[in-house]
Amino acid sequence: MKIKIYPSVLNCDQMHFADQLNAIDSADGVHLDIMDNHFVPNLTWGLPTAQAVVKSTTLPVDAHLMIDNPDRWAPEYAKAGCSIVSFHFEAAKAPLRTAEAIRELGAKPGIALNPATPVSVLADILPRFDQVLLMSVEPGFGGQGFIPEVYPKIKRLRKMIEEARLSTDIEVDGGISDKNIAKVVEAGANVIVAGSFVFKREPARAIAKLREIAVGVR
Ligand code: DX5
Ligand code: ZN
Repeated sequence: MKIKIYPSVLNCDQMHFADQLNAIDSADGVHLDIMDNHFVPNLTWGLPTAQAVVKSTTLPVDAHLMIDNPDRWAPEYAKAGCSIVSFHFEAAKAPLRTAEAIRELGAKPGIALNPATPVSVLADILPRFDQVLLMSVEPGFGGQGFIPEVYPKIKRLRKMIEEARLSTDIEVDGGISDKNIAKVVEAGANVIVAGSFVFKREPARAIAKLREIAVGVR
């Protein structure tokens, strides 16, 4: 599977958002963390910012909705032009209907799981999603440490995907750096989100470094 690197702009320099988007043009997508201060104890952006980001980059926008009531809001992010719209299993009341609505609006539906949610909850719904986002930190903030219990989860999910002969992307999000990306990819992830690692150094070099290590594993 193709390795994709999606920088998270959560902690980029927001006074220079457009420049920061230009600085990551060698990435495969932009990871946009939408937080509502209800599902998670932090507040970021909403639809107008998603629309502005879509307009300001040629990269696909990967929206990660950490919000209550994704059944109401997720389709709006597809309408806004996001290429992938992932919402949390823990927050959705009708995940299949919501996935279908996202797909009908031309975006790829993704389902996100918190660290404590087992991948077994996906057993009967996996084919309805193009991507599974496994959180490797408790959602809400950038710059946290990777939770090691997520490695066996990635392996279990890759096995489920292979057994069902699907081509679902496994995205891992939180605490990823040059120190642990190899292990994340070895476990079976192919979409890597990195926030602080990319924006705390020169973004293009950081992306190249992550890509070099990840591609070396495959
Ligand atoms: C956390 C977000 C992540 C995170 C990534 O709730 O979903 O996207 O900010 O940032 P780092 O790589 O710093 O953990
Ligand atoms: Zn995220």
